[in-house]
Amino acid sequence: MLITLDPPFAVEDDDAPFHFRGWAQVTDPAAPDTRLHVNGVEAPIVVTHRPPRLAEFHPGVEALRFHADADLPALLRAAPAERVREPFLLEATVTTEGRARTFEYAVTDAWLARVFGRPVRARPVPPPHLQVRVAGAAAGQFHASGVRVADQIEALLAGAGLPLARFGSILDFGCGPGRLTAILHERRPDAALHGSDIDPETIAWAQASLGGVADFRVNPPGPPLPFPDASMDLICAISVFTHLPEDLQFAWLADLKRVLRPGCVLLTTKLNAAAYDLPPQVKAEAAEAGFAFWGEAAATDGLPGFYRLAYHGDDYVRREWGRLFEVLHVGAHDLNDTQDAVLLRKPS
Ligand SMILES: C[S@@+](CC[C@H](N)C(=O)[O-])C[C@H]1O[C@@H](n2cnc3c(N)ncnc32)[C@H](O)[C@@H]1O
Repeated sequence: MLITLDPPFAVEDDDAPFHFRGWAQVTDPAAPDTRLHVNGVEAPIVVTHRPPRLAEFHPGVEALRFHADADLPALLRAAPAERVREPFLLEATVTTEGRARTFEYAVTDAWLARVFGRPVRARPVPPPHLQVRVAGAAAGQFHASGVRVADQIEALLAGAGLPLARFGSILDFGCGPGRLTAILHERRPDAALHGSDIDPETIAWAQASLGGVADFRVNPPGPPLPFPDASMDLICAISVFTHLPEDLQFAWLADLKRVLRPGCVLLTTKLNAAAYDLPPQVKAEAAEAGFAFWGEAAATDGLPGFYRLAYHGDDYVRREWGRLFEVLHVGAHDLNDTQDAVLLRKPS
């Protein structure tokens, strides 16, 4: 079922009711079964019976718009205690015919203190434009998607006989605002954790908002990283090689190898070409060469011009990345929701 709440995913207004707006797929538009809950407490919605414009991307799907003016302080004061745990996360869940989707909203500690009449620590959520920059349409699920990715990483590593617990120094390369880094810290608080990215704005947010979670740094668009040779046990690079042209890809693979200790691993992702609607000439290139860089894909506001979309075939990864690393695993849709995991080991 298709369900969405519209951005912005941040509560800015202290006094007025918060205006939620969204749409949900329904089987019977005459009797829609769509509900909204804020941290477990129902917020009454108004269904407008005006369908969203879906025909282009979802032909044949029936959906209705809804909105709600929610008195957030009143709802949160009525929330079950387990939904007000610290660090606090404001979550709005839409259900339609039994299927649910939850969206997260940034709030401040000061706003929470006013709502609850006592200090409550907010879970940091990046401002909407930074979420859109790194997650596109998946914005609004910063924490939940970070947990999902961390679960998948733990499962993939365990499956290769390499439990997360054994890695003492971890680099989240292309960490953005630290979606994964924050969760890795919760799971491995003793590890020396590093996060690096080309984007000074996301790194500044991570440094200011995620506090001592990791050593967050800006790196240049090309290598080298500011880390010594053989200094990391595990490098995660989630949805980074999915955006690099081939020359930068090879340059960064070589530098990540330099930074890894011998016998240690890089866990990264690739787009599955079959799962994406590529333009015909890019599709043909992907099928023939195993790699295609879609340089005309939409640019991302705030990131350099080279940042577009790259597609990799399994054979390409085994052959080309296999010249630098031992390829331990090439998966299918097993990491970062729709992407393919690639697990690489630096030879001992
Ligand atoms: C799709 S986002 C994923 C962010 C993060 N890994 C996550 O999963 O939430 C891709 C990230 O890669 C970063 N990036 C792109 N090229 C990079 C490079 N050459 N060095 C470091 N980071 C890079 C971008 O700035 C962006 O934050």
